[in-house]
Amino acid sequence: MKRREFLQFLGLSTVGAQLLNLNACNTHTPSAKKIKGLSVSRLDRLEFIEGMHYEILIKERELIAPKLEFGFNNDYIAFFPLEKDRAILWVNHEYVDPYMIKGWERTKENIDVERTLVGGSLLEITRQKGQWKVIKNSKYNRRLDANTPIPFEWKEKIENSHIAIGTMANCAGSITPWGTILTCEENYDNYWGDRNFDKKPTDKSWVKWERFYNHPPEHYGWVVEVNPMTGSAKKLVSLGRCAHECAATIVSKKGHAVSYTGDDKNDEHLYKFISKRKDSLSEGELFVADIKNGKWISLDIEKQPKLKERFKTQTNVQIYVREAAKMVGATPLARPEDIEFDPVSGNIFVALTNNKPKLNFHGSILKITEDNGDYESLTFKSEEFLAGGKETGFSSPDNMIFDKVGNLWFTTDIAGWDKDKLPYKSFGNNSLFVFLRKSGEIIRVANAPIDAELTGPMFDSDYKTLFLSVQHPGETASTEKKYTSTWPGGSKPENAVITVTGPLLDKIVNGLV
Ligand code: FEO
Ligand code: CA
Ligand code: CA
Repeated sequence: MKRREFLQFLGLSTVGAQLLNLNACNTHTPSAKKIKGLSVSRLDRLEFIEGMHYEILIKERELIAPKLEFGFNNDYIAFFPLEKDRAILWVNHEYVDPYMIKGWERTKENIDVERTLVGGSLLEITRQKGQWKVIKNSKYNRRLDANTPIPFEWKEKIENSHIAIGTMANCAGSITPWGTILTCEENYDNYWGDRNFDKKPTDKSWVKWERFYNHPPEHYGWVVEVNPMTGSAKKLVSLGRCAHECAATIVSKKGHAVSYTGDDKNDEHLYKFISKRKDSLSEGELFVADIKNGKWISLDIEKQPKLKERFKTQTNVQIYVREAAKMVGATPLARPEDIEFDPVSGNIFVALTNNKPKLNFHGSILKITEDNGDYESLTFKSEEFLAGGKETGFSSPDNMIFDKVGNLWFTTDIAGWDKDKLPYKSFGNNSLFVFLRKSGEIIRVANAPIDAELTGPMFDSDYKTLFLSVQHPGETASTEKKYTSTWPGGSKPENAVITVTGPLLDKIVNGLV
């Protein structure tokens, strides 16, 4: 059999077939069994493939300590083991849907409630009979929200202050090699609007917090580092300011922390920061990707005369990094979202969700290989790893996580407002997929309820449990009178973090399929 026929015989898509070439871990065996994935769903149900099941761990606004509520729109999840069967969980709370909280009236009273429901939560959890549960009132249970003072990790003031009030728009994130959380402030303009270096408005605020709080937009749009044990936090100016989806960090051969971060907006960019140290992201050099030429371009004002023509200081460059990136020739991308390192090959994977104005509706997953396998390299190769579309069965990839044998789990984010229209109609509700490394199959393992997005996939230390956020079910309603979802079963839709377990999960994460 010719290679192409062989792959067709195995039932692999063209793209899946390419993977066998692309992967460092080319361990395909013809005897691998095919798993029957779920069909497309349009039901208001959270459904899992046979062999996996879920329990709700915690829902929006549940009390985690006296007068301390778990936040809204749960997103990225990070897991930190304590001693056996105890752990700390961090959960991002990305944004608020005002009509699901106090209402759309922009009163200070309503906004003040919303301000307590963004940011992130720290929770202690314990495992009993294989099931993780929240320990209410644990000393580790904490909230960071829009009122929490957070210092900037930087030598100069940002808009006249060394401290920002609050963190919000916390989308995805990661765990650093030294055991802290990176939580990323993404669509901060929804709260504050935005402006450019000339102080001309560029974006309008959506929830209008600026009516009652005079906080500058320049205080948001940063990567925030949080200590899971203490809740202490700092805003990392070193990584620049943009709609950070996430930041993923690894230590180079030479012993320097290297962090990759994406700006989730049409035609924005992918960045890499090389730290001076191995256990800190405070000081170092920021680069932006020229994907076409496989180069990382420095954003150091002393090395880029063009930047000096417009900006006075490196601090200006960090704050208006989008403008700086364009000036030095960065490649516009299709909304770079989550970033993960392949545990087998060490390659860097970037979800490019879509770019609708450019008629890129289904997005892709990009693979980056740094030259000489060196994360500090300033040259790299890149190629499309997986393309969204009918052939692969998914559209608009967003959050990702590798399991211990290098299967890639990823979620999709088709906007609720688009799901019943072409070209998205045939994809149904958002889903969780797994790309099986051995066979190249892409399996739909979960379907979200109506309008929801599955976000923040995270494994516990022994890969027995997959944590997942069910975010914004029923979001397109826009009024409490017309809920489009009532998941998980009450009178209104609710966000929740779930735990997923089961024999099929065990098999996949142990490389048995
Ligand atoms: Fe908050 Fe880009 O997803
Ligand atoms: Ca996302
Ligand atoms: Ca991830």
